Amino acid sequence: MRNSQIPVATLSDDSASTGRQLFFASPEALDRAWELGLFYLKIPDDLDLECARQFGRELVASDSPYRQVPQYGELEGFIALENNQQTKLALRRERWDQHYPEHIASFGRQLDAIGIAIICAVFRQSGIPKALWDRASGGYASGGGDAFLNFVHYDTRTPDWGLRPHTDYGFVTILDASAPGLQIEVGGEFEAVPVLPGHFIINFGEALNFITAHSDRAVSAVTHRVVSQQSSDPVRHGIVYFANPDLDGMLWQFNATGEEQGSSSVDDLFAQLEGRLTANR
Ligand SMILES: [Fe+2]
Repeated sequence: MRNSQIPVATLSDDSASTGRQLFFASPEALDRAWELGLFYLKIPDDLDLECARQFGRELVASDSPYRQVPQYGELEGFIALENNQQTKLALRRERWDQHYPEHIASFGRQLDAIGIAIICAVFRQSGIPKALWDRASGGYASGGGDAFLNFVHYDTRTPDWGLRPHTDYGFVTILDASAPGLQIEVGGEFEAVPVLPGHFIINFGEALNFITAHSDRAVSAVTHRVVSQQSSDPVRHGIVYFANPDLDGMLWQFNATGEEQGSSSVDDLFAQLEGRLTANR
């Protein structure tokens, strides 16, 4: 895929009254982003990404104290997967203050604000009345819901690393990738999403597709994979933020006149996806 075909968005400065707003260069660029389920987002100047990257790089050291962060279930804690040489420190918002240093916890909260700006842009396009955004999103649109901030490392010296084709389950994924390898499915073919310096890669997930399905404008959850590519640094670092609904909550589908069209517990929706997808996160 030519770089120019992936649309680029920017965020307005933070404002107390309206929060951040998402902008595309043209209506066509927004159309393309909604159709692909993916776009680049210019990294806001007030985000201290270098510090977060530095924190991520230091995690892989054998003497890093963060290796002692306990595992909580399958998804959280310091996790080393032997099968694909992936190592990650993954924590949901409730545990950021407990385990991340203060600047990383506040970096996570800045990503919360970006996630909210994106989901509000999606709702605005969907025509769903604003009063229902919070309920439809299981609380995420107003600062609740669930969010993960993960620092992920792949060792590219092993041939079998990577991620098989999958869609993300949540609303929005914010990715800071240090090396190429991400591909998305467009018209049945996988195409590369190059790293664009100074930009995050944003993609839409299944829960966002679900809540907009009966609105004026549904978004697609993009199928993507990560393939092995050699890079100068054998360890590929990534920072990933997942904006999710509250995992114990409900999701609601509304149309643009505010009539309820359907609902699902998050549990049921994710279980259904689990059955359908060959996810390997
Ligand atoms: Fe993913």
